[in-house]
Amino acid sequence: MGKLDGKVAVITGAASGIGRASAIRFAGEGAAVVIADLNAEGGEAAVRDCKEHGGRAVFQKTDVASEPQVKALVDRAVKEFGRLDVIFNNAGLGGAVGTIEEITGDNWDRTLAILLKSVFLGMKYSVPEMRKVGGGSIISTASVAGLAGGRGPHAYSAAKAAVVNLTRSVALEVGKDRIRVNCICPGGINTPLIYNRLPGGQQVGEQFLAQLQAIPRAGHPEDIAAMALFLASDDSEWVTGQAMVVDGGLTAGGRLFGQNQQAQPTIPGGFAGPSFEKN
Ligand SMILES: NC(=O)c1ccc[n+]([C@@H]2O[C@H](COP(=O)([O-])OP(=O)(O)OC[C@H]3O[C@@H](n4cnc5c(N)ncnc54)[C@H](O)[C@@H]3O)[C@@H](O)[C@H]2O)c1
Repeated sequence: MGKLDGKVAVITGAASGIGRASAIRFAGEGAAVVIADLNAEGGEAAVRDCKEHGGRAVFQKTDVASEPQVKALVDRAVKEFGRLDVIFNNAGLGGAVGTIEEITGDNWDRTLAILLKSVFLGMKYSVPEMRKVGGGSIISTASVAGLAGGRGPHAYSAAKAAVVNLTRSVALEVGKDRIRVNCICPGGINTPLIYNRLPGGQQVGEQFLAQLQAIPRAGHPEDIAAMALFLASDDSEWVTGQAMVVDGGLTAGGRLFGQNQQAQPTIPGGFAGPSFEKN
């Protein structure tokens, strides 16, 4: 018996990375999955992956920043599989990069449309369908960049912080309908979003990300898929309005006394403090 038997899930950005790993995990736990992405080739490949894991899946080409397309996506889930229980608003990209003076107004708007308006649209169109079946789970991908400065470009960080608070705000509204609203804040996950911009690609991404946090390995899409599965399943029945941090300990603190202090002197073990014993 799977943890998502009988449930229908929409996952955006599921042609790659976190979304694709989540689709495969959900399908393996018995869900019927609608894979949404702009990337049709990756989307169709994700459908094949889901089927190989014993699940049902279809692909719907979707631009998550487009209101009619997000509406059509939710409609497709209901038409294809008869209901909607879970939406995972996950599609994303780095968006506008550069200093605050370099960022153009257009790139700012584009970034916020893909990272934030998309989440609003996913919530807006899934809530009525979830009400019809007596509840559901809305999951969105925020980021550790939404919890503090310096972990992402400006527009990205602003959008992800907004996703965290939109999650809380909507959770309060729809809790009475047994609809849970949560987001996930991943740390450094070695996906194309990260390694496509790194000289050396995926392998360098693996090494670079391994140094950032307490657990000395890069985050992988499956680490986030495991949290998404928890939030999608009835195991999280009493969890709502939360930002679930999955980051290998990145946000636990700084690195002065952390695990990966190659550049720092070794501080001897024992007790640090003034000694009055010799006075
Ligand atoms: N990788 C990380 O370290 C990390 C950390 C924190 C948060 N995130 C977030 O995780 C989510 C997934 O990213 P990922 O790391 O798996 O990257 P990824 O590049 O592997 O996957 C992102 C997917 O989103 C799709 N997408 C982009 N714009 C779209 C649009 N307008 N409409 C539909 N689909 C679109 C892409 O085609 C791609 O398939 C994003 O929201 C990202 O911001 C990633």
